[in-house]
Amino acid sequence: MLNFKQNIRGNVALGINPVGLKQEVLNQINYVKNKGTYEGPKKVLIIGASSSYGLATRINLAFGAGADTIGVSFEKGPKNEKNLGTAGWYNNIAFKEAAEKEGLIAKNFVQDAFSHESKQEVIDYIKNEFGGKVDLVVYSLASGRRTDPDTKETYTSSIKAIGEPVVGPNINMQNEAFYTETLDPATDQEIHDTVKVMGGEDWELWMKALKEADVLADGVLTTNYSYLGTELNRPYYGGGTLGRAKADCDDKAENINELLADINGKALIVVATAVTTKASSVIPFFPVYCIGLYKVMEEKGTHETPIMHQDRIYRDMIYGNNPEYDETGRLRPDSWELDSDTQAKTKELILKLNEGNFNTDLTAYNLFYKEFSNLSGFMVDGYVEQDITIDELKALKY
Ligand code: NAI
Repeated sequence: MLNFKQNIRGNVALGINPVGLKQEVLNQINYVKNKGTYEGPKKVLIIGASSSYGLATRINLAFGAGADTIGVSFEKGPKNEKNLGTAGWYNNIAFKEAAEKEGLIAKNFVQDAFSHESKQEVIDYIKNEFGGKVDLVVYSLASGRRTDPDTKETYTSSIKAIGEPVVGPNINMQNEAFYTETLDPATDQEIHDTVKVMGGEDWELWMKALKEADVLADGVLTTNYSYLGTELNRPYYGGGTLGRAKADCDDKAENINELLADINGKALIVVATAVTTKASSVIPFFPVYCIGLYKVMEEKGTHETPIMHQDRIYRDMIYGNNPEYDETGRLRPDSWELDSDTQAKTKELILKLNEGNFNTDLTAYNLFYKEFSNLSGFMVDGYVEQDITIDELKALKY
């Protein structure tokens, strides 16, 4: 029997529990099913589909709108008892199994989405086995590296400030510590490289390839998740390298809108709320913002996990009656986070934090830690221990 052990280095989770991951996917499916069905897209491609926002989107569209889905992700399967692979690997498997039980198509491509070959394989599949067209393309990729498919040069993204260094509090979940961190300003090269990795270039390449291959339905929609935040995190997020990458996505949305005009298509930037994910846990200072923000939002009844947020985005906003757009046409489900009273209370709370109180009931540290653990299959509601061997894990197919 395998012994699943939670193993955290800094704010990076190393150990996983595949049984817990499956339960977590089932919990998200139940959340959507309990809300009932809605009219939405029927053929969906999700790029970055195996965890957090991409996975939640896929679960929502499949179990809420009855969509067939193609998911592209970059994950690793089990090798031996010490190396069980990555969480997203098991999320893909659990999703597929549940979706197929409902008679839905759930195709997984586990490969580098940045390459031309990946795009071609997905296009061939859409043409030959997926009915020929997709009506929604969701771009939810988060990566630290990208190899340019033409030059083959590999770029690495940096999470850094721009101009001035930023000094502020951060937490380390491995040691349950609260400490002061300094974030250096990025060089021009680092800014450029971060935009190459996390900006909109690959999104635009995907949309061009899909359009050229004629696999986009008339009226196709493509969404891309952005984050703007507030004055509380602007110095290291919106005003830093990641903010530049997100601004590049805004620019690329305009290009894509032109590209899709003749098929009545649309590119939509969705400014999503702050949530606990593999990517967001390693953004310096961001966990401190989250433990303050979540506490305030919990008290107001507005705190959301990725599945709750994505359900609201697609069911209530995009395919429902309550979309909120800003003056540049971006969808703004982040309005609950940006609410002025929520922000004022979060600021007041964060300013009170120190080593002695950051992990007490004053904040949502315990909630953040639980949500972080859930991403690896630990502390999952409804979890039941199971005897499972490495051979059984290896036999699971995505
Ligand atoms: P995540 O790290 O949980 O998921 C990233 C996904 O991208 C995974 O499915 C992974 O397999 C896939 N991926 C990474 N590299 C790949 C590659 N080379 N080829 C194929 N797939 C690859 O990320 P998260 O946090 O869900 O972020 C998704 C998007 O949402 C990002 O654009 C992020 O900036 C945005 N966002 C996140 C917020 C947050 O608080 N976490 C807030 C608002 C927006």
